[in-house]
Amino acid sequence: MVSTSAFIAAIGLTSAVTASSNCTRDFLAKAADRYVQAQTAGSVKMLGEILSTNVVYKENFQAVNIRKGVLSQPIKIDRTHKYYDTTLCGGFIEVIAASSNATADGTPYLIHSRFVYGNDTSDGIALFESVVTKPGDWAFNATGYLHYDGIESWPEIPVGQRDTRATIQAAGDAYFDRFDNTSVVIPIGSACARLEGGSYTARGNYSANTCDGYPDTIKVTDRRYIVDELYGVVDIFEGFPGLDRSVPNVPAPDSHLFRVENGKIRYIHTVSHCINYNCGLNTTTFGRRHVGPRLGGKW
Ligand SMILES: *[C@@H]1O[C@H](CO)[C@@H](O)[C@H](O)[C@H]1NC(C)=O
Ligand SMILES: *[C@@H]1O[C@H](CO)[C@@H](O)[C@H](O)[C@H]1NC(C)=O
Ligand SMILES: *[C@@H]1O[C@H](CO)[C@@H](O)[C@H](O)[C@H]1NC(C)=O
Ligand SMILES: *[C@@H]1O[C@H](CO)[C@@H](O)[C@H](O)[C@H]1NC(C)=O
Ligand SMILES: *[C@@H]1O[C@H](CO)[C@@H](O)[C@H](O)[C@H]1NC(C)=O
Ligand SMILES: *[C@@H]1O[C@H](CO)[C@@H](O)[C@H](O)[C@H]1NC(C)=O
Ligand SMILES: *[C@@H]1O[C@H](CO)[C@@H](O)[C@H](O)[C@H]1NC(C)=O
Repeated sequence: MVSTSAFIAAIGLTSAVTASSNCTRDFLAKAADRYVQAQTAGSVKMLGEILSTNVVYKENFQAVNIRKGVLSQPIKIDRTHKYYDTTLCGGFIEVIAASSNATADGTPYLIHSRFVYGNDTSDGIALFESVVTKPGDWAFNATGYLHYDGIESWPEIPVGQRDTRATIQAAGDAYFDRFDNTSVVIPIGSACARLEGGSYTARGNYSANTCDGYPDTIKVTDRRYIVDELYGVVDIFEGFPGLDRSVPNVPAPDSHLFRVENGKIRYIHTVSHCINYNCGLNTTTFGRRHVGPRLGGKW
């Protein structure tokens, strides 16, 4: 009989098995907490050794000097949500900073971040990337985001009712696959609501499916995932062409956070960075529904 270690070596799993044994929820939670503390203080230094010396750091899909980016200023954070992916050895953080004194100059922020360790956790975080949004980004309204997020409930899913990683990720993928393939059926719950930068689809009826209505010709690119089975959550960072009307061929930096219950999408939170102010839309009408003539309505 082949020993377990010989078997693992034979199928080339040695490093993956060791890495995942180090990469617990607790381990990832400590990293996420450090990030929130560092952003609150505006101190990149506080991240310290949790980052690899070779970390790839990006904001809105561009490589940025971390010392000059959003982490260099203190942000008064109202609420965070954090999810952990022990398979990938990574995490996701949603930051909501809505108050008029959120920053020294009064700019509010909504930030989605994801981080991924390399193969050896002792090397630190290999990739840290954020979609950083503020006024002028898609439907931005941090006050609205804080308010509607506060109405929702995303509790831990009881053991026995949890979907598999594959099911959760497939729900998010189907959503984006539908954007250029009308044959794709998105698993949507009978109740579904989408919070887009602060604009909420469910205004008026919280028990209805108000997520429907999608584009038909948008090819969403470059998807990156964080999946947390305990909470039925998948976050997808991706490029969203057509969102910014002023440069329709440029994939806009975008993050969609999906809550999946019994295989079906219940909630979606989106933050999207506009390449140009308000994505080239009329500032008077922006933020309301049905602002998407080019894409055939809401989505
Ligand atoms: C920011 O404003 C809130 C009230 O909106 C206040 O409670 C808080 O003390 C203020 N924080 C700072 C740092 O000024
Ligand atoms: C982890 O190891 C795999 C297999 O050796 C390699 O393909 C991958 O690039 C490594 N990832 C990182 C972040 O170093
Ligand atoms: C696991 O953690 C220990 C202690 O930090 C470290 O020495 C070791 O390199 C880590 N192994 C992997 C594969 O990440
Ligand atoms: C932002 O959302 C809040 C809360 O829903 C709402 O009262 C406010 O009118 C919104 N602001 C804009 C500019 O739409
Ligand atoms: C569109 O979606 C359907 C249903 O999932 C699938 O069978 C078909 O292959 C897809 N078409 C393309 C071009 O990907
Ligand atoms: C809300 O939506 C549910 C489900 O579609 C529907 O049964 C109900 O009548 C709606 N309520 C209102 C007030 O529109
Ligand atoms: C924006 O839309 C409003 C309402 O439809 C209209 O009155 C205004 O002229 C538009 N402004 C621009 C700059 O297109």
